[in-house]
Amino acid sequence: MPRVDEGTSRRRFLQFLAGSPLLAGSSLSAFAGEAPSRLPDPMIWAPQNLEELIKGPKDAINVFDFEPVCQKNVPPAHFAYMASGIDDEVTLRANREGFLKFQLRPRRLVDVSKVDMTTDILGVKYDNPIVLAPIGGQRSFHPDGEVGAAKAAKAGNHLQILSTAASMGVEDVTAGRGAPIWYQLYATNKWEVAEAMVKRAEKAGCLAVAVTVDRNGGRNQETLFRMRKSDTRDCNACHDRSSLQASMRTRAMYQGIDLSGLRNTQASAMTWEFLKRLRDTTRMKILIKGILAWEDAVLAADNGIDAIIVSNHGGRSEDSGRATIDALPEILEAVNGRMPVLVDSGFRRGTDICKALCMGATAVCVGRPYIWGLGAFGQPGVERVLELLRVELHAIMQQVGAPTIKHLMPTMVRRA
Ligand SMILES: Cc1cc2nc3c(=O)[nH]c(=O)nc-3n(C[C@H](O)[C@H](O)[C@H](O)COP(=O)(O)O)c2cc1C
Repeated sequence: MPRVDEGTSRRRFLQFLAGSPLLAGSSLSAFAGEAPSRLPDPMIWAPQNLEELIKGPKDAINVFDFEPVCQKNVPPAHFAYMASGIDDEVTLRANREGFLKFQLRPRRLVDVSKVDMTTDILGVKYDNPIVLAPIGGQRSFHPDGEVGAAKAAKAGNHLQILSTAASMGVEDVTAGRGAPIWYQLYATNKWEVAEAMVKRAEKAGCLAVAVTVDRNGGRNQETLFRMRKSDTRDCNACHDRSSLQASMRTRAMYQGIDLSGLRNTQASAMTWEFLKRLRDTTRMKILIKGILAWEDAVLAADNGIDAIIVSNHGGRSEDSGRATIDALPEILEAVNGRMPVLVDSGFRRGTDICKALCMGATAVCVGRPYIWGLGAFGQPGVERVLELLRVELHAIMQQVGAPTIKHLMPTMVRRA
């Protein structure tokens, strides 16, 4: 096997550092003197040629094309919040690099003149297995916000998951989607808050609640802290930071709820008991989002959870250094078909999605890419991002010889 010599490898790493929006303005970028204006390998991160921005959604040839336009349009503090990982951002990079560890193993002479990407997710049919991951505060990226994303999801019949921290309410977003969506729950320290949100989501027609369990600790979002210094606007003009209650009252899903006693939007005391209580509270299907160890996946199945999302929060929970595509095989093996397994974090290409589906994932959620589309062009940007992902997935399914999702087999992907 040809080896990349150390010089080339180091040069590539420096080029990555120089081009990364994650390090813009940081002291590390000073080390990257020999960097070109364009990254050689968008596998690692988006091309950063700010001279050649796309003018409209149709100009995009891949999802990365939206990211620098989003960076240009969106206030630096908001963009940085979205882009940021944790600490050294090892997990953030690992999520992308993880896909390099797996290779596709195509089969030939299969009739793939027609490809059907239809996918059943918890008993509902969608035209494809690409899901919009829950992302909070989408109006901070574009006024179209979550409703714009919903309309884009509708155009391609994608499943959408609405965040607890959404800037628009579940009723409006469901109306925009024109079909039931899922709700993501940050349970908070107060049961009554979680209960009220879950009841509201159920009343709005949500089919499932995804309980996020991977945000227990504080987080050192260094890229956010560095980049937001360049934002000259007064944050307090929009964000009421006088108390947690005041800050949360501006969030659509907290409205009308008694927030006295709210000390944390996360639920660091949560155990499996909470899930039992939730089961007695709602008829919606229950998922756990943020599973990374096969032991927890087995416990989820044992506890009657309907599905899990393998996720490291897009490299925003702990800087473990482990990609979700690395964690997925052991989890699928341990679950052994007892419940659907969804996955997210770092998915940017049809081939990335294809690899997870071949392994046995039911669906793949994408986060930042559709936010790049939203920040760049609003709803039409999200539509194009989703279209590009569908087109790429369609093409790679033909290439590996899979006329339907069910034809994507574990033998079609191997560890490099
Ligand atoms: C700006 C931003 C906000 C997010 N907000 C939430 C949230 O409110 N709830 C949640 O469960 N996950 C949230 N996530 C995590 C995503 O649901 C998803 O796990 C992650 O973005 C997937 O990785 P990707 O961005 O690399 O595709 C957020 C991610 C980002 C980037």
